[in-house]
Amino acid sequence: MKAIICNAFAPLDHLEFGDVPDPQATGDQVVIRVEAAGVNYPDGLLVQGLYQMRPEHPFVPGMEAAGVVESVGPEVKRLKVGDRVATICSLGGYAEQVGASEKLVFPIGDMDAADACALLVAFGTSHHALKQRAALKQGETLVVLGAAGATGVAAIQIGKIMGARVIAVASSDEKRAIARDNGADEAIGYENLKDRLKAMTGGKGVDVVFDTVGGDAFDACARSMGRNGRLLIVGFAGGEIPKFPVNLALVKEFSVVGVFWGNFTRNEPQVYAENMQELLGWYRAGKVKPLIEGRYPLADAAEVLTRVLGRGAVGKIALIP
Ligand SMILES: NC(=O)c1ccc[n+]([C@@H]2O[C@H](COP(=O)([O-])OP(=O)(O)OC[C@H]3O[C@@H](n4cnc5c(N)ncnc54)[C@H](OP(=O)(O)O)[C@@H]3O)[C@@H](O)[C@H]2O)c1
Repeated sequence: MKAIICNAFAPLDHLEFGDVPDPQATGDQVVIRVEAAGVNYPDGLLVQGLYQMRPEHPFVPGMEAAGVVESVGPEVKRLKVGDRVATICSLGGYAEQVGASEKLVFPIGDMDAADACALLVAFGTSHHALKQRAALKQGETLVVLGAAGATGVAAIQIGKIMGARVIAVASSDEKRAIARDNGADEAIGYENLKDRLKAMTGGKGVDVVFDTVGGDAFDACARSMGRNGRLLIVGFAGGEIPKFPVNLALVKEFSVVGVFWGNFTRNEPQVYAENMQELLGWYRAGKVKPLIEGRYPLADAAEVLTRVLGRGAVGKIALIP
């Protein structure tokens, strides 16, 4: 089958579009014919050796995919050939077929395959962050950094469902318009962020920050937190892992809270399954709607990842084998 192959940790243009053996359905595995593979920021880090996980070469990247079950292993109980499903798969999504344990697969019925991918890493991370990690409450103020990105758009939509006032932060007029279209109450740039957040909260400070960016934006947010606030550490798309003077947390009585969705899915499979059911329910009720920026041929993976890591993408991107 055709797949994107990473032969060495190297710049993105070294990714190869080539042939690899078809996956086999053994044990509790199903083989899925991929209709859409979700593109995620960490995929671009992983293939360059810049991520916490460093797989053996060669490998096929891609941590989420959706499509049709093509074959099932002898221990598979729930699924059958022909079911449409989505899965998280730490590797292997950027391919015509992917194998996955039945435990990590959920049915999607007639849902669009790219939407199903978006509900996994992007919506899954934002949902877990706001629900379990921040315990966001009705009426609280939520600030979303990188608000037009894949997790950012999801955080805006979920923040609104949970009853928060959402302030989106994004770097261009176009991205701020996208944030507003997705439900943000206000959308601002990164300039004078600390002063603007203080003014916008009447001096009280922010309740919850969803930070995927790090660097100076983290610093501004740490100085804008309200009492009992929760500053969520989600990612460092800006490139710089910030250092933090902990006296700020003491003086302002706020918490810095880490978010690692992949670890959450492995450690709390039951809560993860409940979260997915809630997200699917919101999707079916039309309360969340993934923003799919584009659908590109599998062979374009390197080009797409270059744009994602270069701040040039919005919402979610899917690769179509
Ligand atoms: N902790 C977890 O479980 C988890 C799960 C998923 C993703 N993540 C991490 O969260 C971060 C965002 O993921 P995502 O899927 O939302 O990515 P994305 O769609 O590419 O969005 C990232 C946003 O970050 C902002 N940004 C600021 N400086 C940037 C730079 N130098 N390069 C690229 N973007 C920059 C951009 O918005 P502006 O231009 O508006 O600033 C961009 O829209 C990544 O670091 C990813 O690894 C963490």
